[in-house]
Amino acid sequence: MKTPIRVAVTGAAGQIGYSLLFRIASGAMFGPEQPVILQLIEAPIEKAMKALEGVVMELDDCAFPLLKGTVMTDDANVGFKDANWCLLVGAKPRGPGMERADLLKDNGRIFIGQGKVIDAVAADNARVAVVGNPANTNCMIAASQAKRLPADRFTAMVRLDQNRAQSQLAKKAGVDLTAVKDIFIYGNHSPTMFPAFAHATIGGKPATSVITDSVWLQGPFCETVGKRGAAIIAARGASSAASAANALVDHVRSLVTPGAIHSVAVKSNGAYGFDANVWAGMPVRTTTPGSYEVIQGYAMDDFAKSKIAATNKELVDERAMVAEMIA
Ligand code: NAD
Ligand code: LMR
Repeated sequence: MKTPIRVAVTGAAGQIGYSLLFRIASGAMFGPEQPVILQLIEAPIEKAMKALEGVVMELDDCAFPLLKGTVMTDDANVGFKDANWCLLVGAKPRGPGMERADLLKDNGRIFIGQGKVIDAVAADNARVAVVGNPANTNCMIAASQAKRLPADRFTAMVRLDQNRAQSQLAKKAGVDLTAVKDIFIYGNHSPTMFPAFAHATIGGKPATSVITDSVWLQGPFCETVGKRGAAIIAARGASSAASAANALVDHVRSLVTPGAIHSVAVKSNGAYGFDANVWAGMPVRTTTPGSYEVIQGYAMDDFAKSKIAATNKELVDERAMVAEMIA
């Protein structure tokens, strides 16, 4: 039996938490051979901690063979202690009519404190995945507080957007979802994100030769993917939760699977024209478990370049909004 890994999850009693924890404990995130200890962190609010007790009772009641322990806490120093993976979900969700960047002032602060504590107490091999919105900039904030852990350990999730794009392309082409490959998300987890359809394939052929309607690809396709979160809020009255949890399972699973190629928001080093030190969605290849390299060299036409410039500008603007906070 392998040594259990410690997985810290913030916002564990929230909507996403309720879909996520059971998937981790069942082995979906780290595989059927890897035992886990869940270190569940909630806000210091009586109602949230009470709800967390209920969630832990349900985890117990699942009798998951891979779940070797649970910690329940409102103290980040306890929750992140020796954690190998830190899944930062806990943050306010947006409501109707808001953009995710509107959450920056409230949520940004959370990631200052958590970035510092993770850097101080998490395991030497700790990896961080940020889901709480606005995810890219919150990830940049958390990484800015770290002195021990290198910046490439901090990733933000754009996998939900990749999954959404894959699904939309499959529906339009009338093919099984698995026929769609290599659709990657560039930039911010916001309506400016760019799902780079020109590099995707459908049934092994360029997506643009299967879906020849370029007006649809450049317009409704990009818009549907970019505004899917708002569409779900309008329909459900609450932001996506099960699909977000599923995307986080995919994000981490791909990051621990050498050879996997997938979209992750990572610290830019200038690739594809993104400013250095913004966290931008890009295609990455997992090298060793938890480590990755950005896949460079996808050619971008003028349309793609203009989309990337717009999403990069938004990331730069968000960074400017929190400059004082992280100074
Ligand atoms: P929720 O309100 O249901 O749950 C959030 C939980 O976080 C609450 O239980 C709250 O008590 C807890 N929390 C707040 N501050 C905390 C802190 N400092 N430490 C620990 N816990 C804390 O919200 P949700 O639907 O689970 O969404 C969580 C976040 O994820 C939101 O910001 C949402 O916008 C975002 N989200 C991101 C994506 C993505 O693709 N990146 C997708 C869906 C949702
Ligand atoms: C999503 O994309 O579903 C989430 O980021 C939630 C939101 O605010 O849209």
